[in-house]
Amino acid sequence: MALLKRLSYFVAAFFVLLVQKKINARELHGQAVKKGLLEPATLFGKKSEFEKAVSALMNPEFHVDEALGGQDYTNNWAVYVAGATEPVKFAGATAKQVVYGVPNLKAGQISAAIVSVANRGGGGSLDTQNFIMAGWLVSPGDYGDTRTHFFTYWTADGSRNTGCLDMRCWGFILANNSQLIPGSVIDNYYDISIKIFKDQNTGDWWLHYGQGDNLTPMGYFSKWIFTSLQQEATELQFGGLVSFNSSYTSPPMGSGHFPSKGEPAAASFKSVRFVDANGLETPIKDIRYNVNNVKCYDLGKFVFDHFLYGGPGGCK
Ligand SMILES: *[C@@H]1O[C@H](CO)[C@@H](O)[C@H](O)[C@H]1NC(C)=O
Ligand SMILES: *[C@@H]1O[C@H](CO)[C@@H](O)[C@H](O)[C@H]1NC(C)=O
Repeated sequence: MALLKRLSYFVAAFFVLLVQKKINARELHGQAVKKGLLEPATLFGKKSEFEKAVSALMNPEFHVDEALGGQDYTNNWAVYVAGATEPVKFAGATAKQVVYGVPNLKAGQISAAIVSVANRGGGGSLDTQNFIMAGWLVSPGDYGDTRTHFFTYWTADGSRNTGCLDMRCWGFILANNSQLIPGSVIDNYYDISIKIFKDQNTGDWWLHYGQGDNLTPMGYFSKWIFTSLQQEATELQFGGLVSFNSSYTSPPMGSGHFPSKGEPAAASFKSVRFVDANGLETPIKDIRYNVNNVKCYDLGKFVFDHFLYGGPGGCK
């Protein structure tokens, strides 16, 4: 048993090194693309299931209460949104959340809790939508299991030609010695704290994670993969997101309980703050409720820096 554990450690370490090497090469590639030295290469591989789940949330018209998606899948969300309607600038976002399992999900069903930092580039088209997301994700179609994973995602064009879940392609540079990496299973975590913020010296967007107030670096999204997010962010989102195709009903969000059930039954976001240009974490004053299927999911009141979210799903 001990030997097996050791062996799997070495295999994992080797794999991380391998990925790290590849990523560095791809970061250089990304820089070269942004500097106009290379033609942008279409990202290899197929789109992740997660990308389908976020596509509607990225749509510039998403605040119009509609269940957008493709013909064969539906996206539902219950998120609080900061910025977007006001010209404000954020250097990042941070929140703490309880991690839940969503057992019995099938490929074609997704349930996630997200912290999102975005700049839509001022344009009305998808092409200008820059997003960074992190949180927990259950997606059998992406991971081949029903466990809860820590995920990261970025796109520089509303997920049209760029976009990457975890480290399936380039863009995220792992920090040295991070115990978790994008995609790691976290179903043994009770809660997780996430902070995404812009390093004012380098312009890169760092991701820190941890439990409680004890955060450590996981890595960063190179500024070169972005366009509008080379500046500050103008929009933050916090909450739950689900996606499902017509073979299934909608999955549970959060703990599977409505916010009206109260704590501790309902899932929560706590210490929800924005990060200002000086790196200070500040409570958010103006925040907007955005739920597109109140029959199935909802948000509780945003009280200072804390709210409940979720629902049982089971809708068509
Ligand atoms: C639903 O998604 C699963 C997994 O991707 C797929 O096998 C199935 O064919 C999809 N069903 C429909 C109706 O699209
Ligand atoms: C990891 O360590 C190497 C060697 O000290 C350093 O060059 C590199 O910048 C570090 N990576 C990160 C993401 O901090």
